[in-house]
Amino acid sequence: MSYLKIGIAVAILLVLLKWLIPKWLFEDLRYLRIIMSAKKSGDLKVKNNLTFSKLLSINAKKYPTKVYLYYEDETYTFAQMDALVNRVARSLISLGVGQGDQVALYMYSEPMYLAIVFASIRLGAEIGLINSNLKKSPLSHSLKMVEAKFLLVGNDSNLEQAVENIRPSIPDTKIIFCGDSTNETSFLSTVEKASPLKLEEKYLPTNISMSDTACYIFTSGTTGLPKAVTMSHAKVVRISEVCVFVNMSPDDILYTALPLYHTAGLLAACMCAVNIGCSVVLRRKFSASNLLSDCRKYKVTMLQYIGELIRYLCSQPPSPHDKDHSIRMAYGNGMRADVWNKFIERFGKKIKIREFYAATEGNCGFINMFDEVGYVGTCSPLMKKLSWSFLCSI
Ligand SMILES: *[C@@H]1O[C@H](CO)[C@@H](O)[C@H](O)[C@H]1NC(C)=O
Ligand SMILES: *[C@@H]1O[C@H](CO)[C@@H](O)[C@H](O)[C@H]1NC(C)=O
Ligand SMILES: *[C@@H]1O[C@H](CO)[C@@H](O)[C@H](O)[C@H]1NC(C)=O
Ligand SMILES: *[C@@H]1O[C@H](CO)[C@@H](O)[C@H](O)[C@H]1NC(C)=O
Repeated sequence: MSYLKIGIAVAILLVLLKWLIPKWLFEDLRYLRIIMSAKKSGDLKVKNNLTFSKLLSINAKKYPTKVYLYYEDETYTFAQMDALVNRVARSLISLGVGQGDQVALYMYSEPMYLAIVFASIRLGAEIGLINSNLKKSPLSHSLKMVEAKFLLVGNDSNLEQAVENIRPSIPDTKIIFCGDSTNETSFLSTVEKASPLKLEEKYLPTNISMSDTACYIFTSGTTGLPKAVTMSHAKVVRISEVCVFVNMSPDDILYTALPLYHTAGLLAACMCAVNIGCSVVLRRKFSASNLLSDCRKYKVTMLQYIGELIRYLCSQPPSPHDKDHSIRMAYGNGMRADVWNKFIERFGKKIKIREFYAATEGNCGFINMFDEVGYVGTCSPLMKKLSWSFLCSI
């Protein structure tokens, strides 16, 4: 008899508790755990001076034969990428690039782009990532803003011509055309001839501080000319901790067609892959008609997007093979509710969507961890209280 009473009391208590404890509390606890783990992982790297160049070398030792980068029909393992970075770093040294020098990079997305960024970080130089669509005065404005001592120009006649056109306006900048490796005097052929071995101690700066500038990334310039945002080594490492929020794992294969001169393509994809030790498929230019066949070819599991990209994908003619892929998550920002629903209806409900918003120049961001339409930026009462203390600590 008394057992029955106790049983009823417990049941009533449970119902009351379920009713009293709001659903958001569990989501908040999950979210807090993720924030703490991202912060801890970032702190550890910052404390140990692990710049992206060092993280790449660590991966090269840890997973030498694992593919870091797929690009068209080329593949680069972590070890091959690290060796290429040594070649590029030696070639930059031979041009006179050293610690604290400003180097500007004007190039389309390709493996060499990443190798130059890593090499610049390895040498403690500061690299300005110039929007490859800029020409004329916005181009020379950007180069002047980062006070470029050196300008590396990709192997493409459009880029070369655009630089020739503004040459008189940047008299203090040494212009280096990457050119083609068949040209004996080009930068690329210097790179090919350079040693892939680890740099000698005397060339490796030992005093790179995590608060030193790693790169300059330009905001899209919604108001007037583009503005350069200074990104320290610590900041780029911390931004790439977004991999924790999107639940990236070493087995993932990311796909990005976003330009490397912005935070999303460079940090939230290519540097995340170094951070977590997974692979990334790089595409020079987004193509809606090739996206799905690319994803099948490389067995992509995570797709990076900006809102419009998914809209273009959804406006492709439907195919019976639309659900035939291994994408488990799409992450990025700017997906409208109508596109969101269309996208998962058509390409499969197994695709989770992680929407977040953060500005390159900002110190905080919003994320939709619920994988449901319309939650980005929503806040529970508890998170509203806590967010101030977090804003102050990050
Ligand atoms: C450089 O550009 C030329 C002309 O577009 C092309 O034929 C060549 O393959 C390119 N070289 C490299 C290494 O990308
Ligand atoms: C080879 O490269 C140099 C500079 O890198 C350039 O001035 C020259 O025009 C190039 N030669 C050819 C044949 O493309
Ligand atoms: C990190 O670099 C700074 C600046 O060079 C140095 O003072 C500090 O001792 C380094 N910390 C570690 C753990 O190597
Ligand atoms: C690092 O050390 C070099 C010489 O060893 C020195 O010239 C340079 O100013 C130092 N840089 C920083 C940021 O401390």
